[in-house]
Amino acid sequence: MIKKVVKALAYAVAALVVAAAGFALYIQLSDLPSYTPKAVSFPVDYTPERAERGKRLVTMLCAGCHNDPTTRALTGRLMADAPPKFGTIYSPNITQDREYGIGEWSDGELAYLIRTGITRDGRYTPPWMLKLPLLADEDLKDVIAFLRSDDPLVRPAHVPDRRPVPSFFTKFLTRVAFKPLPYPDAPVVAPPATDPIAYGRYLVVGRLDCYACHSKDFATVDALVPEDSQGFLGGGNSMRDRDDHPVFTANLTPDATGLGTWTEADFRRTLKLGLRPDGRPLRSPMTARPELTDAEMGAIWAYLRTVPPIVNAVPSPWPEAPIADAGRKVFHKYGCNSCHGNDGGGTYDIRRGIPNYATDEALIDYIKHPERTRPGIAMPTWDGTIEESEYAALARFVRTLAAAPAPQGD
Ligand code: HEC
Ligand code: HEC
Ligand code: HEC
Repeated sequence: MIKKVVKALAYAVAALVVAAAGFALYIQLSDLPSYTPKAVSFPVDYTPERAERGKRLVTMLCAGCHNDPTTRALTGRLMADAPPKFGTIYSPNITQDREYGIGEWSDGELAYLIRTGITRDGRYTPPWMLKLPLLADEDLKDVIAFLRSDDPLVRPAHVPDRRPVPSFFTKFLTRVAFKPLPYPDAPVVAPPATDPIAYGRYLVVGRLDCYACHSKDFATVDALVPEDSQGFLGGGNSMRDRDDHPVFTANLTPDATGLGTWTEADFRRTLKLGLRPDGRPLRSPMTARPELTDAEMGAIWAYLRTVPPIVNAVPSPWPEAPIADAGRKVFHKYGCNSCHGNDGGGTYDIRRGIPNYATDEALIDYIKHPERTRPGIAMPTWDGTIEESEYAALARFVRTLAAAPAPQGD
């Protein structure tokens, strides 16, 4: 009798194993799921003002992933900084090229992808492509107007796409967890900037997507009701910096384990320069956001003060090996590597540009006041922060980065 039960159980287990293996094989062999995109109408009135505002949004929201430092355009790149568990990920060319870029996409198709995650040919883009379902219509129109402008970042560039190679893990999640988001059936309107708390919330959850990184885990983010995300803004989401060291997102709630003891001035300085009140620089993938206006920073701060506090002391491992070179020490002290990588090639490659500064004085001048070359620039103003005695070694070190061989392709 017992033998029979054991035998039956063994068969049942074997059947389950075979079924699970079959499902695994099916997932492994299949592509990511596809969906039928809905044709939506999203007419954009192109004006120079729209394109100008859109440039700032695209710089903050899209360039980090789609900009190739070697072409200095949104021609796509290998995303070596994406978590390897998702697979080998390439971002595509989104310049106006008709074959590889978005030259043939309609405004509605672009809006549909950015809000739902479904491309015009029905491919579902997993978590590695940003989705902004709560982005206001006006902001989305600005983004699209910029993508159609004649800015060098988006002019047609005939650079072929490389398709991402998703891991089993990604394929599995897109079958069971990650699903396309619904396209909104009513206009999405941002609250007025005169209401700082409501506007700050919009910036954090709708426009700048701070909360997805700063909640507990990407897998439990609620893209439609952000407040329902696990550990909303309480940090602890595990990431990797550019050297593959673990970095955990910070707790931004007003608890003492979060920003409870910070002043608004601490917060502004951290976002402007990337230096925390205790002097530690922000590490990649977090970078300073010098493009934010004072009003935007004030609104974000006002809103963060109102979110429910979460007790979560986030670990902050700091495996900084002692650095011998005096210039490299300064480079790391101020977190230049959070944007420029340890080798100068990070999100913003500076290796090719450095030789254009004829003298160290010119180079130091630029580092002190990059905003004089162009307002709203994403490079912080360092004058008054870096000590005068540190500039010479820093400039010398920065020049050694330029001497490294030029990167190929990626
Ligand atoms: C976190 C990185 C990341 C960010 C941020 C990001 N993208 Fe993407 N994007 C990707 C990746 C990776 C793909 C490829 C998806 C795929 O094929 O599965 C993609 C795909 C696309 C496509 C489809 C192109 C094609 O040929 O299939 C468009 C258009 C696009 N992104 C536009 C944008 C815009 C506009 C923004 C800013 C609002 C943006 N992306 C922000 C990573 C990103
Ligand atoms: C791509 C993911 C990502 C996004 C998007 C992001 N952050 Fe961060 N943020 C991080 C990580 C990771 C850290 C921790 C960095 C470290 O420990 O060096 C961090 C740290 C911070 C800190 C430092 C707090 C502390 O206690 O150390 C502040 C402040 C901050 N982020 C605010 C923001 C705001 C505001 C936004 C939206 C404008 C934002 N972040 C968007 C990943 C992100
Ligand atoms: C928040 C990100 C960020 C940080 C931090 C940062 N930079 Fe930059 N840096 C940029 C961006 C973006 C540019 C390109 C500006 C532009 O659009 O012209 C740039 C440009 C430069 C250039 C000019 C390169 C060229 O091609 O002309 C140098 C040199 C430079 N940075 C050095 C530094 C040094 C040194 C530090 C640390 C003290 C630093 N950066 C910190 C974002 C950053």
